[in-house]
Amino acid sequence: MPKHIEGNFHTLEYGEGVLRLIDQTRLPGEEVYLECRTEEEVAEAIRAMVVRGAPAIGVAAAYGMAMAAARRADLSPEEIRAALDAAGERLAATRPTAVNLFWAIERMREAARASGAAGGEALAGELLALAAEMHREDVAICRRIGDLGAGLLPEEGQVLTHCNAGALATAGYGTAGGVIRSGFRDGKVKRVWVDETRPFLQGARLTAWELSRDGIPVTLIADNMAAFCMQQGRVGVVVVGADRVAANGDVANKIGTYGLAVLAREHGVPFYVAAPMSTIDFKTPTGEDIPIEERSAEELRTIGGRRIAPEEVEVFHPAFDVTPARLVDALVTERGVVRLAAGESLETLSGP
Ligand code: MRU
Repeated sequence: MPKHIEGNFHTLEYGEGVLRLIDQTRLPGEEVYLECRTEEEVAEAIRAMVVRGAPAIGVAAAYGMAMAAARRADLSPEEIRAALDAAGERLAATRPTAVNLFWAIERMREAARASGAAGGEALAGELLALAAEMHREDVAICRRIGDLGAGLLPEEGQVLTHCNAGALATAGYGTAGGVIRSGFRDGKVKRVWVDETRPFLQGARLTAWELSRDGIPVTLIADNMAAFCMQQGRVGVVVVGADRVAANGDVANKIGTYGLAVLAREHGVPFYVAAPMSTIDFKTPTGEDIPIEERSAEELRTIGGRRIAPEEVEVFHPAFDVTPARLVDALVTERGVVRLAAGESLETLSGP
């Protein structure tokens, strides 16, 4: 039986007014950390994808809000609440699709509104404690998702995953990455097929790095090889993360996910999505209502700074797509598993 796997790096770390982020734009070549001291710096790190992945963005934003309060601890609670509104707007303007960002900002603002703290120092202390709690909570949630999801995996599983929904995309352990980690621990994951995930290459740069470090067998493929791998029977199950799940179960995730879901259905391969409750957006009725981030043309016209397409060519670059609920065999959350394709509703997860 393979030994239990622990991530041995930290996606985010906070101490003494500084949020340290492993710089995901520099991996796998360099393992360097970026230090953020202000909410503006945190917002810029999210925008530039130094930190990325829905739950990790949420936790980073929570610390950004806490830092906005801590830097103004000499002000009154009312003045701090006003500063938090501005900080929240700034952080929210960075990336539109991952709902965890807005969920985390709102949770911090709500805590500030509800607080009875007599002074700024006390309020700032409460907010920092809440951000740290959200950080710890995210790791625990990922472990729960991982263990639940591992139960769905076939024996001797060959898992295909897309983008990075691992420890790097969360406060630790990962969602889809957590299912893979728990599955490997339980002897159920024999091999992980990792899509390179054009154009930002989260699969090649991040997932391949993260899983290899943990001794999990990884085979990297280009995105256009997934169909052939499934046709050849090399893939037993697909597990991905999510950036936002609409109330009807439609799933927004990294561009390319929808294609994999269609392929999985064609080849009779189960398609699973792993995500925390904070990724479910009951206020957004269907996938059509999910805002899809469009990123720069240059990200597509270049690879690693090297031009691969004419400078002037027109580009369409949606960073996410939407997989209809009917193609999602199971959504794994910390509250349980919903068989969306079989017609089960997300309502089964709601409640306190
Ligand atoms: O653009 P990114 O790298 O932030 O996109 C990340 C993804 O699409 C992940 O699959 C998703 O956030 C789930 S992370 C646990």
